[in-house]
Amino acid sequence: MEQEPEQGHAKVHYLNFTNNESALSTVEKEVFTLKPSIPVYFLRPAALKRAADFFLKNFRTNKHQSDVLYSVKSNPDVAVLRHLFNAGIKHFDVASLAEIHLIKELFGEEASMYFMHPIKSREAIFEAYYKHGIRDFSLDSFDELKKILEVTNNARDLGLHVRLAISNSHSAIDLSRKFGILPSKAIALVRKTRMAAKRFGICFHVGSQCMDPAQYRGAIMIAKDLAEKAKVKIDVLDIGGGFPSLYPNMSAPNLSTYFAEIFDAISQINLDSECRIWCEPGRALVAEAGSLLVRVEGRKNNMLYLNDGTYGGLFDAGTPNFIYPTRVIRIKGRTPLAANGTSFGFYGPTCDSLDVMKGPFYLPENIFEGDYIEIGQLGAYSRSIRTEFNGFNKYLQIEVTDEPLASMYVESEEQRETELISSS
Ligand SMILES: Cc1ncc(COP(=O)(O)O)c(C=O)c1O
Repeated sequence: MEQEPEQGHAKVHYLNFTNNESALSTVEKEVFTLKPSIPVYFLRPAALKRAADFFLKNFRTNKHQSDVLYSVKSNPDVAVLRHLFNAGIKHFDVASLAEIHLIKELFGEEASMYFMHPIKSREAIFEAYYKHGIRDFSLDSFDELKKILEVTNNARDLGLHVRLAISNSHSAIDLSRKFGILPSKAIALVRKTRMAAKRFGICFHVGSQCMDPAQYRGAIMIAKDLAEKAKVKIDVLDIGGGFPSLYPNMSAPNLSTYFAEIFDAISQINLDSECRIWCEPGRALVAEAGSLLVRVEGRKNNMLYLNDGTYGGLFDAGTPNFIYPTRVIRIKGRTPLAANGTSFGFYGPTCDSLDVMKGPFYLPENIFEGDYIEIGQLGAYSRSIRTEFNGFNKYLQIEVTDEPLASMYVESEEQRETELISSS
């Protein structure tokens, strides 16, 4: 069934959007039938549900109320949002008016939004507050505090969250240079924000794809020290995003270890029992639920020329040099795939030589033009980063029942390892 998207994403064609599992297809079936000439996102609704269930069930402590805010920027696709919502995710970390409009249009008053971008335009604050009822805003400077108060006419019902800059040294993507105030310089801002806020929060981000659970503990201790020094009560401790997904060269501890570290640290800092604990996962909720199918259009030695690249869905395979799990799908009737693998790099379809992904990606050595590669863990930071550069702006999205190429949510470490090896 083909369904036009509601949000006017003119370039994507949804081939199905359904909660009926039995109506869904599989990756191989779709590839063999469609032989697609444009990139295809394969979305796994069951994996979205599994991730949402895991967070909602386990991001909890007996002592505090907790909320899971999905970070919309990681994948604002309508189908993804609907599946998460249906699985119980009702809170959304939004960073722009466009994201606010999207959530409002899809879920109306049933969704709660939190404007957690530390530097926002006056127009965005105005519309968020007056038109969409958003009360929670993050900030990392006196200027931003002043701006929020001016725009809202010194509203007395604001949730104001001071974003701290903390070390992102154990994360693949460092977010600490652009946003956040150094804890050593934050005492005055914390006091002033506390006075202006109805609910006062401290938030931070340990960096995306954080490989070390202890980073959360360190940041929680820094937040506690700051609140003590400033002599303020915290109403919300927001530990941000950063939870990892699984990549062939980045095998993080399982998510339960992160949660155990976080809640143990929280239990040691004597927070008021009224204090809420928030997290803002993006990657960990959606990455493994999406894969991207690309086609090899040419080969020169060990470089493959693909029909998608860093200006499309593979931004993080470029300069950030993410390596993803992959599998080759060869259309029936061709020679069998070689059992031996070797390492390849990729070029994207645009004319820019920056459109290169050095990998290494291990693939069968006899891969050639016309073969398909399914690239896993691309449910996050792929669809949302695409550009239209050089006219490579079309793609499909199809929902399937396949398991992800690798999963953070399977039972044991050994099982995870096996999945990863067999898919890389
Ligand atoms: C404020 C904020 N919250 C949450 C996230 C989501 O982070 P992640 O995808 O690493 O979980 C981001 C990502 O940039 C962010 O900027």
